[in-house]
Amino acid sequence: MRLKCIHYENFRNHRLLNFIPSDGINVIYGLNGSGKTSLLDGIHYCALTRGFVSAADSEYLSFSSDFFLLESNFFSESESLISVKIAYTKEREKQIIVNNCDVKSYSNHIGRIPCITFSPPEIIIVNGAPSERRRFIDSAICQINKRYLDDLIAYKRVLHQRNALLLLLRDHHTTHPEMLSLWTENISRLAASIVHTRVLFILAFLVRFRELYGQLSINEYPSINYRSSLGKISADISPEALYVLFRAKYEETEKQEIFRAQTLSGPHRDDLVFLINEKEIKKYASQGQLRTFLIGLKLSQHRFYYDSLGEKPLCLLDDIFSELDGSRIADIFNILENCGQIIITSAEQKGHGNVNIISVESLKKMGAI
Ligand SMILES: Nc1ncnc2c1ncn2[C@@H]1O[C@H](COP(=O)(O)OP(=O)(O)OP(=O)(O)O)[C@@H](O)[C@H]1O
Ligand SMILES: [Mg+2]
Repeated sequence: MRLKCIHYENFRNHRLLNFIPSDGINVIYGLNGSGKTSLLDGIHYCALTRGFVSAADSEYLSFSSDFFLLESNFFSESESLISVKIAYTKEREKQIIVNNCDVKSYSNHIGRIPCITFSPPEIIIVNGAPSERRRFIDSAICQINKRYLDDLIAYKRVLHQRNALLLLLRDHHTTHPEMLSLWTENISRLAASIVHTRVLFILAFLVRFRELYGQLSINEYPSINYRSSLGKISADISPEALYVLFRAKYEETEKQEIFRAQTLSGPHRDDLVFLINEKEIKKYASQGQLRTFLIGLKLSQHRFYYDSLGEKPLCLLDDIFSELDGSRIADIFNILENCGQIIITSAEQKGHGNVNIISVESLKKMGAI
């Protein structure tokens, strides 16, 4: 997947700007606050319907403007054109138009433009709460597996309804208890399917991850384990076996669940355990090791997508080189050379081989003409 061009209007600090990247590695440099991250955010919007810095569309609207507009053209490996237009006004929800057709459900657009990102705040994936790691694995799988995205959406709905019923059962003993059995059946099926997909993903992902870690010229052996609310589960477990385990678990904890008015087991409570040389990195790793682990995760995601889709995903790397020493930066440039189109931001002008180096100020000047 390659971005051919993108046009920004009233998007953060970019009142009017056009960007035409090269097909290989691009490094955009500029001062702090000059708008580098915002540039990547606009591309992320077009690929995945939202920015990666902030969740709210309104925050992307340039101060004192009443609309923002993004227009971009992407080409897939098979040379088919995907044109994406995103228009937002304060009065109504954003409008997403792909190849001249209105996108009604945003989830239909996700996966069309495979994309991976790196940004410094994402360090919370490796050292933050379990929900951050769940978000990482969920979004990694969603882009390549539409059924998984549908399962997640359905799971969220069923979880909400089951919790509401548990509350009713606790506070008004009048509700029919057989209703709970129905929701337990629904949630067990979805939980089994989601956990099964996650476990399979980790198994395949880990192979690429370890291979890539080897290329970062460090003598460390990384691992990723899936920590399930069901306890220890084997890597080759079937969805049927998981379903049976979930049913049994819900039966066992039913009284507790009613008392707490909460579903206590399921993929919404699970975690990924990241290890280096068998030690949990959250507890023991240095800042540099955490950052390298995160970079490794993201670049392995790139390989995984390429192997699964036959399409190199777009690679948006915000400030990836800060805090890294020269030899680590050279290792990363070497890995990136075979990764298709890469757009990197950096506060300093950094180059390596055939890199297209662009200053954000020069883009702004061209936009103003
Ligand atoms: N809604 C908005 N309207 C106008 N300007 C905004 C808006 N939101 C943020 N800004 C400003 O846009 C500028 C660009 O921010 P951005 O994060 O893209 O900079 P950056 O080049 O990535 O900086 P750094 O090197 O510090 O990461 C900042 O000065 C910020 O205050
Ligand atoms: Mg930035």
